[in-house]
This record gives sequence, C-alpha cells and structure tokens, in this order.
Amino acid sequence: MSDRTPTRSAEPLMEEEKQSETGAATPALGSLAIDVHEASHADTTTHETVFDLHDVNVYYGQTLAVADVSLEIYKNQITAMIGPSGCGKSTIVRSLNRMNDSVGSFRLTGECLYHGNDLYATGVDPVEVRRRIGMVFQRPNPFPKSIYDNIAWAPRMLGMKANLDERVEQALRGASLWDEVKDRLKTSALGMSGGQQQRLCIARSIAIEPDVLLLDEPCSALDPISTAAIEDLMQVLKKQYTLVIVTHNMQQAARVAERTAFFSLDVSNGQRKGVLVEYDETTKIFTRPADKRTEDYVTGRFG
Ligand SMILES: Nc1ncnc2c1ncn2[C@@H]1O[C@H](COP(=O)(O)OP(=O)(O)O)[C@@H](O)[C@H]1O
Ligand SMILES: [Mg+2]
Repeated sequence: MSDRTPTRSAEPLMEEEKQSETGAATPALGSLAIDVHEASHADTTTHETVFDLHDVNVYYGQTLAVADVSLEIYKNQITAMIGPSGCGKSTIVRSLNRMNDSVGSFRLTGECLYHGNDLYATGVDPVEVRRRIGMVFQRPNPFPKSIYDNIAWAPRMLGMKANLDERVEQALRGASLWDEVKDRLKTSALGMSGGQQQRLCIARSIAIEPDVLLLDEPCSALDPISTAAIEDLMQVLKKQYTLVIVTHNMQQAARVAERTAFFSLDVSNGQRKGVLVEYDETTKIFTRPADKRTEDYVTGRFG
C-alpha cells in the first residue's frame, strides 16, 4: 500500500465500457429473509462505468477507517451500500465527490476514477466535482429560504441564470414535488414536511444537471410513506442519473438497487477497520451470496 501518486489530470471525460457479469442460475438459498424482485434487476446488458475504485484506503489521521476497496459503479443504475454502523459506507460515498476534503485528517490512497479521471489528481477542482456529483444527506437540510430560492441558489451561483423559472420548475417536477408546491414557491422551505424537504434537497441537486447523485441514508429520518415516495423517485431518476445510496435498510437496498456492496467491520490486532466484503448484483447478494459474512448479515444473524 503506497500513497497514490496522482498520474492523471482533469482531462475531458472519457467513456469506458465494461461488460457486467450475468448472474449464474444457481438455486436461491431458502432461508434468506429479503424479498428481491428478480425481474427488475435482471442485468444482462453492457454498462458504462462511472466510478472505478482500485485499492482505495481511507485514513483519518493514523487510523485506517476503510481498507482495500475496489469496485465499479455503472451508469444509470442504483448502487446500494449496506453494512453495520461504522464500517465506512459514508466515508466511501463521500470520497466519491470529495466531500471528505473538509476533514483535516482525511487521507485517501489508491485510485478513485470517475469516467476514467482520477478524482484526486492535482488540478481537479473539487467544486466542479461536486457540481457533477451531487449529494443528499440523512437529514433534509433546506436553506432557511423560500422553496424557489432553495432551488435557484446553486444555478445562480454557477451563473445558470437563463430561464431560471423554468429550471426551478423542471427540478421540482424531476423530484416529484411540483404539484405539491407550485402554489407556494415563495413560502419558506422550512414549512414543508420532512419527506417534502428531502425531495426538495433532491430537486436542489438536480437543478444544476449533475451526472451522479449520492444519497447517504436519505430516508432514515422519514416515515414509510415519504420513504416510498423517495424510492419511487429514485427509479425515475436513474433513467437520467447514476445513483449511489447508502442505506441501513436492507429491504430498501433489495427493492431499489441493481447492485449492492456489503461492507463489514474487520477486527484484527485490536484494530477495527471497514472492509468491502462482497459486491455484486443485488439479487445475488440477497439470495446466493458468496461470502459467509454477507449471508449472516442479510439473514439477520449478525447486525
Ligand atoms: N470525520 C471523521 N474523523 C475521524 N474519524 C471518522 C470521521 N468520519 C468517520 N470516521 C470513522 O471512520 C469509520 C467509518 O465511519 P463511517 O464512514 O461514518 O461509517 P458508516 O457510514 O458505515 O457508519 C468509523 O470508525 C468512524 O468513527
Ligand atoms: Mg454513515
């Protein structure tokens, strides 16, 4: 493990195609608790790679938080990250748009490619990275401004001021919120319900036409009906965007994601570090996982 030497600069985006695996037709394990809708996840097509992580290690100071993560995330899919608390799901997802840069002790080794470009190479502008790769957090965090101004804020900052009304409407429609708020655009966003606020945060992200949306436990603070609305919305959004969702809720991963990454905590020599145990099609992770640790987790034998 050596410090990654930046070798790539922020070149124009290159498209790279990878053939994904098709699931082998082995019988499902009978005892698994999660109901996966196989048909919606049948994955026989070729997918463009959006993120390609090679041997990524993340440290906070001297502490190795997550070790040796290698995975590819595909375009127009929903990729879920599951696993027990503290295993590094947020750390990895935040590494995908340089959201960890603000943590002074954060250090990443290995390679984190986005459309073939090293996100951590010298010369890459983190602001531009976050423009293309938006993020939605666990707690809805609207600005204390009107609904309209929440959506218009980032486009204004980025000089995307033409047809702003239309852009705001499109973003709200895209987040399935328009009909609920079109008559009160100038009222405070803080007067909305939690579920509406979370969809507002999604609208705010898509208003600047990103490529990817990262969602870190976006439904943890929501009731089941608002959660279902976000899950339905994700199915619509993936047609246009690539989505990565961290979730505590295994049923949610099984319902929404084409691919699932299972992280766990590895304890050796008194050190705890997060590891990526298994990454595969969601159907495979929940019905015929390759690793005993995955099986124990998805069957509820280990939390
Ligand atoms: N800003 C930080 N500073 C120091 N340690 C951190 C920071 N953020 C996370 N960690 C540590 O990194 C590990 C992984 O945390 P996290 O990525 O939040 O896990 P998860 O999202 O899976 O619960 C934990 O041990 C956590 O304490
Ligand atoms: Mg987390």
